Amino acid sequence: MEKKNIDWQNIGFGYMKTDKRFVSSYKDGAWDEGALIDDDMITMSECACVLQYAQTIFEGMKAYTTEDGRIVVFRPDLNAERLANSAKRMEMPVYPEDKFVDAVLKVVKANEAYVPPYGSGATLYLRPYMFGINPVIGVKPADEYQFRVFSTPVGPYFKGGIKPLTIRVSDFDRAAPHGTGHIKAGLNYAMSLHAIVSAHEEGYDENMYLDAGTRTKVEETGGANFLFVTKDGKIVTPKSGSILPSITRRSLMHVAKEYLGLETEEREVYLDEVKDFAECGLCGTAAVISPVGKIVDHGREICFPSGMDDMGPVTKKLYETLTGIQMGRIEAPEGWLRVVE
Ligand code: PLP
Ligand code: COI
Repeated sequence: MEKKNIDWQNIGFGYMKTDKRFVSSYKDGAWDEGALIDDDMITMSECACVLQYAQTIFEGMKAYTTEDGRIVVFRPDLNAERLANSAKRMEMPVYPEDKFVDAVLKVVKANEAYVPPYGSGATLYLRPYMFGINPVIGVKPADEYQFRVFSTPVGPYFKGGIKPLTIRVSDFDRAAPHGTGHIKAGLNYAMSLHAIVSAHEEGYDENMYLDAGTRTKVEETGGANFLFVTKDGKIVTPKSGSILPSITRRSLMHVAKEYLGLETEEREVYLDEVKDFAECGLCGTAAVISPVGKIVDHGREICFPSGMDDMGPVTKKLYETLTGIQMGRIEAPEGWLRVVE
């Protein structure tokens, strides 16, 4: 199979149309078999529930070429489970988890020519999503849905690659207590758009959201969870019912403990104590682990000792071990890599 002629080293995190996508429809209470199709366009009613009431959820994961030339997908079973949880909270039908994984593997196989080569720094991003498609005008869930998966080759999420980021404490909230912050619904991202545009206008890379209830605790950014490293080398991550349970963060906590022998702790993290940490990183599928060099809280600067030039030493070890597992250089825990055959 010949790879597409793409300048893999220099692609950013953008959309590039690939050859095939998977689509399955839900009607009369059941999902159809689903199929790979060529058409990247969707036609729907002007009154589709997704257009009027934002009934849409999604997932994000990546396929990698390993050092020995296999193509693998990282923990798709956890994305399947999270999409099922998102569906339940949004009154949508669950797409069966085994079929989700199957669909993802089929899309990767069908777009093999777009899977970036080993060592290029790029990956194939996979975007499964589901939305209510029939006309709905009174506020209620749709009766008909589509589940889809498309793929697009991507480079680093943040422009500077792995240069430390500067983020600000946001005056906007991302998620309400007992709201939808813990699921991956499009509505959480719609409401973050104004905050990210104004953060960029003011020269920041991202927003740190605080808990909406007390505005004293660290939640997450618009697209990643936080990891902190204490001065004595412990890994700390915020615990909250209104943040997305990141698969990358859960994997990194395992790596920290089982591969690097570090102590780990998931607990509430107060903004007031952030100045005492030695390192800070943002973790997610798109972000991998992106180091944070500085956090600005209304003019007060919190500068991490790891500085603005390089990743801190512990963040770097975590990054290298996780990407080593994903690219097949380091043995993966049982079940973490699904090989595309
Ligand atoms: N938090 C938010 C709000 C996200 O959008 C994402 C991205 O999926 C994450 C965290 C990271 O989650 P994961 O590691 O599963 O990609
Ligand atoms: C991901 O990391 O997969 C995400 O969905 C984050 C998104 C904001 C690009």
